[in-house]
Amino acid sequence: MNDTYATLRAKYSATTKQIAGYENFMNGLMSIVKAGAMDTPTGDKLRDYVLNFVKNNSLSAFNHYEDNTYVRNIIGRDASGWEAIVMSWKKGSRTAIHTHPQFASYTFADGEFLVEIFEPCEGGIKLVNKLTVNNQMGLYAIGEEGKFTNHIHRLTCLSETAHSLHVYSSDALNGFNLDDERIFE
Ligand SMILES: [Fe+2]
Repeated sequence: MNDTYATLRAKYSATTKQIAGYENFMNGLMSIVKAGAMDTPTGDKLRDYVLNFVKNNSLSAFNHYEDNTYVRNIIGRDASGWEAIVMSWKKGSRTAIHTHPQFASYTFADGEFLVEIFEPCEGGIKLVNKLTVNNQMGLYAIGEEGKFTNHIHRLTCLSETAHSLHVYSSDALNGFNLDDERIFE
Protein backbone atom coordinates (compact mmCIF):
# COMPACT_ATOMS: atom_id res chain seq x y z
CA MET A 1 0.00 0.00 0.00
CA ASN A 2 1.43 3.39 -0.91
CA ASP A 3 0.58 6.96 -1.78
CA THR A 4 -0.70 6.08 -5.23
CA TYR A 5 -4.09 5.14 -3.76
CA ALA A 6 -6.86 7.72 -3.79
CA THR A 7 -7.79 9.06 -0.36
CA LEU A 8 -11.29 9.31 1.11
CA ARG A 9 -11.29 13.11 0.87
CA ALA A 10 -13.04 13.47 -2.49
CA LYS A 11 -15.87 11.17 -1.48
CA TYR A 12 -16.67 12.45 2.01
CA SER A 13 -15.70 16.13 2.36
CA ALA A 14 -19.18 17.31 1.38
CA THR A 15 -20.93 15.41 4.17
CA THR A 16 -18.57 16.58 6.94
CA LYS A 17 -19.89 19.08 9.53
CA GLN A 18 -18.28 20.75 12.58
CA ILE A 19 -20.31 20.57 15.80
CA ALA A 20 -19.54 22.62 18.95
CA GLY A 21 -20.36 21.66 22.54
CA TYR A 22 -18.19 18.57 23.02
CA GLU A 23 -15.01 20.28 24.22
CA ASN A 24 -15.03 18.43 27.55
CA PHE A 25 -15.21 15.09 25.78
CA MET A 26 -12.27 16.01 23.56
CA ASN A 27 -10.22 17.37 26.48
CA GLY A 28 -10.67 14.12 28.38
CA LEU A 29 -9.72 12.13 25.33
CA MET A 30 -6.55 14.15 24.78
CA SER A 31 -5.51 13.77 28.40
CA ILE A 32 -5.45 9.99 27.86
CA VAL A 33 -3.54 10.38 24.58
CA LYS A 34 -0.91 12.63 26.17
CA ALA A 35 -0.47 10.43 29.27
CA GLY A 36 0.85 7.34 27.54
CA ALA A 37 2.58 5.76 24.57
CA MET A 38 0.55 4.65 21.56
CA ASP A 39 0.16 1.09 22.75
CA THR A 40 -2.48 -1.41 23.84
CA PRO A 41 -2.97 -0.04 27.38
CA THR A 42 -3.61 3.45 25.93
CA GLY A 43 -5.84 1.97 23.23
CA ASP A 44 -7.89 0.14 25.85
CA LYS A 45 -8.27 3.34 27.86
CA LEU A 46 -9.40 5.30 24.80
CA ARG A 47 -11.86 2.58 23.81
CA ASP A 48 -13.33 2.47 27.32
CA TYR A 49 -13.51 6.28 27.53
CA VAL A 50 -15.52 6.55 24.32
CA LEU A 51 -17.73 3.57 25.18
CA ASN A 52 -18.52 5.13 28.54
CA PHE A 53 -19.40 8.39 26.79
CA VAL A 54 -21.92 6.77 24.43
CA LYS A 55 -23.44 4.79 27.31
CA ASN A 56 -24.08 8.01 29.23
CA ASN A 57 -24.86 10.50 26.47
CA SER A 58 -27.62 10.39 23.90
CA LEU A 59 -26.52 11.09 20.35
CA SER A 60 -29.99 12.29 19.37
CA ALA A 61 -28.47 15.71 18.57
CA PHE A 62 -27.09 13.92 15.51
CA ASN A 63 -30.38 12.78 14.02
CA HIS A 64 -29.66 14.32 10.64
CA TYR A 65 -29.18 11.86 7.86
CA GLU A 66 -28.54 11.69 4.17
CA ASP A 67 -29.94 9.06 1.84
CA ASN A 68 -26.86 7.81 0.12
CA THR A 69 -24.06 8.24 2.63
CA TYR A 70 -23.38 8.60 6.32
CA VAL A 71 -22.95 12.12 7.77
CA ARG A 72 -19.65 12.98 9.51
CA ASN A 73 -20.09 15.31 12.52
CA ILE A 74 -16.70 16.42 13.81
CA ILE A 75 -17.13 17.03 17.56
CA GLY A 76 -13.46 17.58 18.36
CA ARG A 77 -10.20 18.27 16.61
CA ASP A 78 -6.88 18.76 18.42
CA ALA A 79 -3.95 20.77 17.04
CA SER A 80 -1.96 17.52 16.97
CA GLY A 81 -4.40 16.10 14.43
CA TRP A 82 -6.52 13.91 16.69
CA GLU A 83 -10.22 14.08 15.86
CA ALA A 84 -13.50 12.68 17.13
CA ILE A 85 -16.44 12.24 14.78
CA VAL A 86 -20.03 11.14 15.32
CA MET A 87 -21.36 9.36 12.26
CA SER A 88 -25.10 9.44 11.52
CA TRP A 89 -26.30 6.50 9.44
CA LYS A 90 -29.35 5.42 7.52
CA LYS A 91 -30.11 1.88 6.45
CA GLY A 92 -27.84 0.85 3.60
CA SER A 93 -25.25 3.58 4.19
CA ARG A 94 -21.89 1.99 3.57
CA THR A 95 -18.32 3.22 3.75
CA ALA A 96 -15.70 2.59 1.12
CA ILE A 97 -13.26 -0.19 1.98
CA HIS A 98 -10.61 2.00 3.56
CA THR A 99 -7.51 2.38 5.70
CA HIS A 100 -6.88 4.56 8.77
CA PRO A 101 -4.20 6.65 10.51
CA GLN A 102 -1.99 5.16 13.25
CA PHE A 103 -4.80 5.08 15.81
CA ALA A 104 -8.42 4.41 14.85
CA SER A 105 -11.28 3.50 17.15
CA TYR A 106 -14.94 3.07 16.35
CA THR A 107 -17.68 2.74 18.91
CA PHE A 108 -21.22 1.65 18.11
CA ALA A 109 -23.76 3.72 20.05
CA ASP A 110 -27.10 2.55 18.66
CA GLY A 111 -28.51 0.69 15.68
CA GLU A 112 -27.09 -2.34 13.87
CA PHE A 113 -23.98 -2.59 11.72
CA LEU A 114 -22.14 -5.02 9.53
CA VAL A 115 -18.37 -4.81 10.10
CA GLU A 116 -16.08 -6.33 7.47
CA ILE A 117 -12.35 -6.39 8.21
CA PHE A 118 -9.75 -7.00 5.51
CA GLU A 119 -6.02 -7.59 5.33
CA PRO A 120 -3.64 -6.92 2.46
CA CYS A 121 -2.64 -10.00 0.48
CA GLU A 122 -0.77 -10.75 -2.72
CA GLY A 123 -2.61 -8.94 -5.53
CA GLY A 124 -5.25 -7.25 -3.37
CA ILE A 125 -7.05 -7.68 -0.06
CA LYS A 126 -8.85 -10.53 1.68
CA LEU A 127 -11.81 -10.57 4.06
CA VAL A 128 -10.58 -11.87 7.43
CA ASN A 129 -13.48 -11.06 9.77
CA LYS A 130 -17.16 -10.25 9.41
CA LEU A 131 -19.41 -9.41 12.34
CA THR A 132 -22.86 -8.02 12.97
CA VAL A 133 -23.04 -5.57 15.87
CA ASN A 134 -26.30 -4.54 17.53
CA ASN A 135 -25.05 -3.55 20.98
CA GLN A 136 -22.85 -0.79 22.36
CA MET A 137 -19.25 -1.80 21.83
CA GLY A 138 -15.92 -0.33 20.81
CA LEU A 139 -13.16 -1.59 18.51
CA TYR A 140 -9.78 -0.07 17.82
CA ALA A 141 -6.59 -0.71 15.90
CA ILE A 142 -3.06 0.66 16.18
CA GLY A 143 -0.84 0.84 13.11
CA GLU A 144 2.39 2.49 12.06
CA GLU A 145 3.17 6.06 13.11
CA GLY A 146 2.80 8.64 10.36
CA LYS A 147 1.17 6.22 7.91
CA PHE A 148 -2.40 5.73 6.77
CA THR A 149 -2.17 1.99 6.21
CA ASN A 150 -3.79 0.94 9.52
CA HIS A 151 -6.81 -1.40 9.74
CA ILE A 152 -8.77 -1.99 6.53
CA HIS A 153 -12.52 -2.17 7.01
CA ARG A 154 -15.96 -1.43 5.58
CA LEU A 155 -19.00 -0.54 7.71
CA THR A 156 -22.62 -0.91 6.60
CA CYS A 157 -25.70 0.28 8.49
CA LEU A 158 -28.31 -2.48 8.79
CA SER A 159 -30.93 -0.65 10.93
CA GLU A 160 -33.26 2.20 9.93
CA THR A 161 -30.88 4.69 11.57
CA ALA A 162 -27.72 4.40 13.70
CA HIS A 163 -24.89 6.37 15.33
CA SER A 164 -21.23 5.61 15.93
CA LEU A 165 -18.36 7.62 17.41
CA HIS A 166 -14.95 7.44 15.77
CA VAL A 167 -11.58 8.62 17.09
CA TYR A 168 -8.52 9.04 14.87
CA SER A 169 -4.98 10.19 15.52
CA SER A 170 -5.00 12.20 12.29
CA ASP A 171 -7.48 13.45 9.68
CA ALA A 172 -9.24 10.26 8.59
CA LEU A 173 -9.96 11.65 5.13
CA ASN A 174 -6.31 10.97 4.34
CA GLY A 175 -7.05 7.23 4.60
CA PHE A 176 -6.93 5.27 1.36
CA ASN A 177 -10.01 4.21 -0.58
CA LEU A 178 -9.53 0.54 -1.53
CA ASP A 179 -12.87 -0.01 -3.27
CA ASP A 180 -11.08 -0.80 -6.51
CA GLU A 181 -8.83 -3.46 -4.95
CA ARG A 182 -9.33 -7.08 -5.90
CA ILE A 183 -10.98 -8.97 -3.03
CA PHE A 184 -9.88 -12.56 -2.36
CA GLU A 185 -12.16 -14.76 -0.26
FE1 LIG B 1 -13.15 3.49 9.07
